[in-house]
Amino acid sequence: MSSTKIAGVGFYVPEQVVTNFDLMKVMDTSDEWIRERSGIVERRYAKKHEETPTTMAAEASKIAIERAGLQKEDIDFIIFATLSPDYYFPGCGVLLQRELGITKTEIGALDIRNQCSGFVYGLSVADQFIKSGMYKNILLVGSEMHSMGLDFTTRGRGVSVLFGDGAGAVVLQPTFEEGRGILTTHLHSDGTHAEELAMLSPGSHGGYHLPDVDFGFPTAEELGEIFVYDNLLNNKTYYPVMDGQLVFKKAVTKFPEVIMEALSKAGHIPEDIDLLVPHQANLRIAQFVQKSLKLPDEKVFNNIMKYGNTTAASIPIALSEAWEAGKVKEGDLVCLAAFGSGFTWGSALVRW
Ligand code: ACO
Repeated sequence: MSSTKIAGVGFYVPEQVVTNFDLMKVMDTSDEWIRERSGIVERRYAKKHEETPTTMAAEASKIAIERAGLQKEDIDFIIFATLSPDYYFPGCGVLLQRELGITKTEIGALDIRNQCSGFVYGLSVADQFIKSGMYKNILLVGSEMHSMGLDFTTRGRGVSVLFGDGAGAVVLQPTFEEGRGILTTHLHSDGTHAEELAMLSPGSHGGYHLPDVDFGFPTAEELGEIFVYDNLLNNKTYYPVMDGQLVFKKAVTKFPEVIMEALSKAGHIPEDIDLLVPHQANLRIAQFVQKSLKLPDEKVFNNIMKYGNTTAASIPIALSEAWEAGKVKEGDLVCLAAFGSGFTWGSALVRW
């Protein structure tokens, strides 16, 4: 049976750099607070009305497809991980197909809504498709446009300073080289704290702070009334909310656990890792994980300082940047790990 190799990587970040000092102009925050708590110095914001998660994903995808030595028509399946899709529906997978100009219909497109661990979940799904022989050239992307959906008042500062925009992509293919490619993937979830790191609206859960009225089939006016009512009384739900300390505690436990799970499944120990690419949630979380696995600085790749937390895009952006910097070489043992909203978390071990 074949295994799955990462045949090409690419990333795209918007041109517009937003520093901590820029954020200080719109909310009560400081460069010192943001750097100390998260390691973030600056992030990128997409051009409103010009760029979307799909257009950014297309830029990253073109690079990954070219590096894999393929043409866009060779792609037979698209997996798109995002929490900030262009539309409520349809998903971004089909939008990316259109944006890339892939007109053939013998192709599948799947969206993944697993937030920070969306890329690792997508990698695991793609791995199964490739190993089963169902698809041969899978395009997997993570892309986020957080800047459109953050609360930039002082009320939202605990969350909004952490996030940035960008996209990363990989192309996955079968390989018959012994011991090469994705060695193992591990996925976990625990819905107990689902609302602790979440954006609750728009959504169909209903009943939240709504007037106790059975609208039946609501008229346009009634729908407007629901929206205005919810927006006025509960407008915080239209932005992400986070219990930062709970997320921190869970993340620093689950990251090392799921990395060790992958290593032991593949018969490895932390020392064997050539490069760990953790989801770029927060530099302090990554440093905590590094310390608990006793990894030297050169074996952990972080770029959150430049891009902030780009959720589903953070691992493929970091992986691409590490590859471009020559930090991922043929034969290297690369570990990818993520933790995020849900909570969901996961890891993948790859022999490059
Ligand atoms: N600038 C200045 N002050 C701020 C800011 C800000 N941007 N945000 C919050 N504060 C203030 C608070 O209002 C509070 O003030 P008070 O003491 O006067 O009430 C004070 O700072 C402390 O607030 P806390 O929320 O307790 O801050 P904490 O030290 O916990 O740091 C942080 C918050 C950075 C979010 C921390 O909890 C953390 O690192 N959590 C991990 C979560 C994370 O990184 N999430 C990333 C996204 S999720 C993911 O990718 C997995």
